Amino acid sequence: MKKTGLISPGSDGLLGAEDLGKTVALLRAGEPVALPSETVYGLAANALEPEACAKIFSAKDRPFYDPLICHLPSPDFLGEFAFSCPLAERLAQAFWPGPLTMVLPKRAMIPDLVTAGLPDVALRCSAHPVFQQVVSACGFPLAAPSANRFGRVSPTAASHVLAELNGRIALVVDGGACGYGLESTIVRVAGEHLEVLRPGPILVEELEKYAPVLQPEDLRSAPGNLPSHYAPATPLSILEKDAGPAFAAKREEGKRLGLLAWEGKSEGRWEKIEKLSETLDLREAGHRFYSALRELDAAGLDAICAEALPETGLGATIMQRLRKAAHHG
Ligand code: TXA
Ligand code: MG
Repeated sequence: MKKTGLISPGSDGLLGAEDLGKTVALLRAGEPVALPSETVYGLAANALEPEACAKIFSAKDRPFYDPLICHLPSPDFLGEFAFSCPLAERLAQAFWPGPLTMVLPKRAMIPDLVTAGLPDVALRCSAHPVFQQVVSACGFPLAAPSANRFGRVSPTAASHVLAELNGRIALVVDGGACGYGLESTIVRVAGEHLEVLRPGPILVEELEKYAPVLQPEDLRSAPGNLPSHYAPATPLSILEKDAGPAFAAKREEGKRLGLLAWEGKSEGRWEKIEKLSETLDLREAGHRFYSALRELDAAGLDAICAEALPETGLGATIMQRLRKAAHHG
């Protein structure tokens, strides 16, 4: 097991020349590196090199059927790696750099390993200054899934990446806590309409200004969109209105329970409470969601209960993640 290095940007928020050189040298040598993004931390490797990308799959224990998102240095590269269209160009102009991933027909240089054999590639352009700095210096796109073990809670801080991948990768770049804290919105650009494959920080209402949007329930899922995902090791249940008696029974058995709180009104003797936002701000709740889940997971509890959030705006995205995190099997 090799030791994982950790480096940080300077006070200007960017990597110094030596650290940038070290990061790019590892990526050029085909080694994956964990990078901060505005959504969650990504485990990046040269998207044009199947051997480099294979190391992402093995570090994460990720099955090869789950394709990787490719990150571009700027919107200008969209047509270089995918067959673009006017709608994709308009979306890139509106939302890139930022938390929108577009699925489009791939060009030949994108390896089949990256797309899991699919004819389409998922492309994104991160707004994080360090991610931009690194991908621009590399001169090749970076394939980067979330930097967690497959199926587990996404990392929104460098310490989370180390908890997941320490000893499995050479380097983590510590860019502090991720702003959004939730993975990008994924849309398939299909002619003149959009299909949401994964909800995220860019809301359907925003996308509808550009084209008609088909909602997830209309669609087959994204290839990696499994029923169980983003899951803590501790059993998690959502406190829907009818869940009361089950949890009352558990408390009688003397179980140690934690609460992932929204309004914080759920009755019970909670060993630990993590409140997502004191001011009931959905953006703050998204920012804190995965780290709160991790805190509860690390507290030696028998079970975690999560209060349901309102399913408007970002609340719908958080609830989608919560349902998958609560799905066992
Ligand atoms: O915010 C994000 O998107 C983060 C940061 C690091 O960019 N990345 C991320 O990657 O969340 P990952 O691999 O954890 O989730 C990407 C999802 C997977 O469920 C995968 O199946 C789907 O995107 N995906 C990737 N390529 C695809 C493709 N060609 N067609 C459909 N879905 C695709
Ligand atoms: Mg992921």
